[in-house]
Amino acid sequence: MLLLNPNTLLVTGGAGFIGSNFIRHVLTKTNFLGQIINFDKLTYAGNPLSLADLSQAFGERYVFVKGDIAEAADVEAVLKSYPVDAIVHFAAESHVDRSIYGPDEFVRTNILGTYTLLQAARKAWGERKDVLFHHVSTDEVFGSLGDTGKFVETTPYDPRSPYSASKASSDHLVKAWHHTYGLPVTLSNCSNNYGPYHFPEKLIPLMIGNLLAGKVLPVYGDGLNVRDWLYVEDHASAIWAIVQRGRVGETYNVGGENEWTNIDLVKFLCQRLAEVQRHDPHDYLKLISYVKDRPGHDHRYAIDCSKLKAELGWEQSVTFEQGLETTIRWYLANQKWVSQVTTGEYRQWVEKNYQTR
Ligand code: NAD
Ligand code: DAU
Repeated sequence: MLLLNPNTLLVTGGAGFIGSNFIRHVLTKTNFLGQIINFDKLTYAGNPLSLADLSQAFGERYVFVKGDIAEAADVEAVLKSYPVDAIVHFAAESHVDRSIYGPDEFVRTNILGTYTLLQAARKAWGERKDVLFHHVSTDEVFGSLGDTGKFVETTPYDPRSPYSASKASSDHLVKAWHHTYGLPVTLSNCSNNYGPYHFPEKLIPLMIGNLLAGKVLPVYGDGLNVRDWLYVEDHASAIWAIVQRGRVGETYNVGGENEWTNIDLVKFLCQRLAEVQRHDPHDYLKLISYVKDRPGHDHRYAIDCSKLKAELGWEQSVTFEQGLETTIRWYLANQKWVSQVTTGEYRQWVEKNYQTR
């Protein structure tokens, strides 16, 4: 088992949803005393303001560097400027619907970007073994489940969307760089996250925003697709456990053990928001509208995370009810953040590609 106590973490994609929650978790909830470099291109999905308070509170221990993981010069420069001993790689194009409308950026960032980062890590680290490249990946690489069974770490890869195919490719590159070049790596494949700073194109924050605006709640197809939801800070704590104590070369599945059909989840969300706001839930429920299905929509994802629990002692820390309530209250209190991220480039893209929002 690797016992890594990194001094300088390079976090790619740290201005996005999970990356920003990870940085916040490590700086505020762990005994990490080193420096975090947040390396992010600031696409439509990245917002440095998500971490503005940390810049104030942590001074030089939190540094933001704007850069593109697919540009070797950007990546090599950051690795030359800081004595990085662990890379936690979140940066990606992450939205399945976008990958269907425009796969180019998914191939560029997720595949070419991961390749570029791996090469730069080799160049910076040489044969060092006291370093780690952790790759953050998704359960979608395993394909789609029927009504029973769960994904384990050895489930054969069967990606179905341009997004999941690009993430599967990046996983394979990371594993190949370990086997071929001896680069110390770990990987995690996680189920659907939810929580604060979630970009409002994804199911839960999109529905919260539409409910608050009195807009329809677009449920794809028959609403019976199943996802396994995990509170984002529990994902952050899982990644931190793997970075510190995971076995090099290993993959760990991370999941919520919390399966919901989309329609049940949307109804539950209507009820919880109505409770928090002391509102009549029927006003919310009647906004539900079944719309055209996502092409190639995977039926069900479910994660078996017993390896992570048994080896590293990780547990989910909140129930879905607790996590969802925190999330609802966060969105109610942070409408300014929502309007910042849903204007500009994002709005232009939505107007070009979607009519329903
Ligand atoms: P996100 O879309 O919210 O954030 C992605 C971040 O990456 C943004 O800050 C963006 O600016 C940055 N980025 C994009 N392209 C870049 C590039 N070329 N160079 C540098 N930075 C770039 O994504 P997320 O939901 O936080 O997901 C983070 C990672 O976790 C992804 O790798 C994703 O595949 C994986 N993942 C996500 C989930 C989920 O439910 N959201 C679940 C499992 C795994
Ligand atoms: O499983 C992990 C994956 O979870 C991550 O790798 C991805 O980065 C992340 O985006 C997420 O992918 P999904 O496609 O599962 O998430 P999304 O929030 O887009 O959709 C969740 C489910 O809700 C899915 O079955 C599609 C459905 N849906 C989604 C939207 C946006 C709707 O019914 N209506 C909607 O408007």
